[in-house]
Order: sequence, then structure tokens, then C-alpha cells
Amino acid sequence: MTGNQAETFSLPDVVPDVVWLDSVESTNEYLASQSAPSSLRAALSWNQSAGRGRLGRAWISPAGKSLALSLELGPELIPDEPSESWRGALPLITGAQLVAALESMCDKVSLKWPNDVLIDGKKVAGILGQIPAPRRVIIGVGINVWLADSELPTPESTSLVLQGMTDASQLHKAIGELITQLVTTLQSMRQDGVPEDVWGKIRGVVSTLGREARVIFPDGQEVVGTATDLDDCGRLIVCDHSGESHTVSAADVQHLRPV
Ligand code: BTN
Repeated sequence: MTGNQAETFSLPDVVPDVVWLDSVESTNEYLASQSAPSSLRAALSWNQSAGRGRLGRAWISPAGKSLALSLELGPELIPDEPSESWRGALPLITGAQLVAALESMCDKVSLKWPNDVLIDGKKVAGILGQIPAPRRVIIGVGINVWLADSELPTPESTSLVLQGMTDASQLHKAIGELITQLVTTLQSMRQDGVPEDVWGKIRGVVSTLGREARVIFPDGQEVVGTATDLDDCGRLIVCDHSGESHTVSAADVQHLRPV
């Protein structure tokens, strides 16, 4: 392990506007509170005190140990009329690109539907997409980087350093790859919707597919069954034990066992 790990680093030139915040409540909220950007911009911090998670939850990250990265897409990356398919694909694409970027340093990286990046079955990163106003799109990524065992928010979590990352430069490279690949993919979707090969890449990393899973809806109801596919808006299709098919758009998923 090298140096003081919680350091700033450069992002690829495709992000013309980058701000590193010494501390912030939420990088997503920080960007949302600014006026709309004219092109892609990023806010990052190693010290996020009130991070927002999915389904109204908090994202807890001890100071200096977890990276908060938010990207606000500029008009050059947002279709004139974003379809439901585009909106549904966006966090999944971000997750798939993050999986690909982390695979350069760790084994057994996958995406648990919809937005949890796992290493060896444990959560290392979460993604939160927000549309704070029409034609504004923010994608937030929280990555557990330097957390020791005793600092993990839950027993189902992990961190990059616990999974074998040895050097901060590996993370810097992975974030650069994430952003570069994400921008390239979004450029390809600016006019033509979500290409089939993009769905293919997403399906290829979603470890929920083909598994027995418990789906827990926000109202507490549950469905247990086999996750068979994603639809063209990124919703999870789950076939329960009576053969009924459920299309799931917002829920928590627990992986039970491979089928
Ligand atoms: C989740 O797993 O529930 C999603 C967590 C998303 C956390 C990130 S950290 C950067 C950005 N800013 C926030 O307030 N939330 C996202």
C-alpha cells in the first residue's frame, strides 16, 4: 500500500469541470444545488457526511476511507427526449462500467441488480442516479476504498483494500476507465437509444440473473423466484415458484443461491 490513500487525482480530459471537496454532505446534492452545466462535470470527496443512497436510505462512509464521485451529464450526453429505456439503462451502464474497471484489480466483481457492485458477493460500491430537474441527470458512485473490517457499514460489505487493492494508483486508473468508457457509451446512445450490445454487456455482469433471489419491495412485500432477465427498461424479471412472472422496477434483492 502506498502513501496517504485519500488523495485527489486527475480525471480524464473528457470531464472539463472537476471539483474536489474537502468535505461535503452529499456530492450528488452539491451538483444539484449548482446551476445546470454546459458539459460533463464532476464533484468528488473523500469526506461525505450525509451521502444519499437508494430508496431514501443513507450512504455511510467514514472520513477519508470511501470515495464519493458524482457526475452530472452535460447536454452533449443527454438525448433530446430521454426514453424510459435510456433512464433505466443509465445506472446499470454505470454499474457495468464500474465492474469492468474494478476487474483490472480484483477478481469476482459483479453487479447485483440494480446498483450494487459486489466483490466475491460483498458490496463494495453503490450507485444512485438522480434527475433533479428536467434535462438534468446526476449519477453518484460511492466506493468503499480504504475501510478496514471494523469500519464496514454492514457484514455484507467489503472494501477495495480488503479485496487486494495494493496501490492508490490502481483506483485512480479504474476511475479514469470508468469515466472514459461511460462517456463513450453515452455518446453512442445520444441519438439511437440503448444499443443491444450495451444491454448485452449489462446482462453479462449482472450476477442476479440466473439466480434464486428474494425481492423485497419498498412496502415490505416479497417475491422469491428465479431472476431470468432484464426488460428493455432495465427492470428485473423474476419468475416465482408458481410460474408467475414479476417485472420489478424498484426493490431490494437478496441473492439466495445459484440455480
Ligand atoms: C446505494 O447503494 O444505496 C447507493 C449509494 C450511492 C452513494 C453515492 S456517494 C456519491 C453520491 N452522493 C450521494 O449522496 N450518493 C451518491
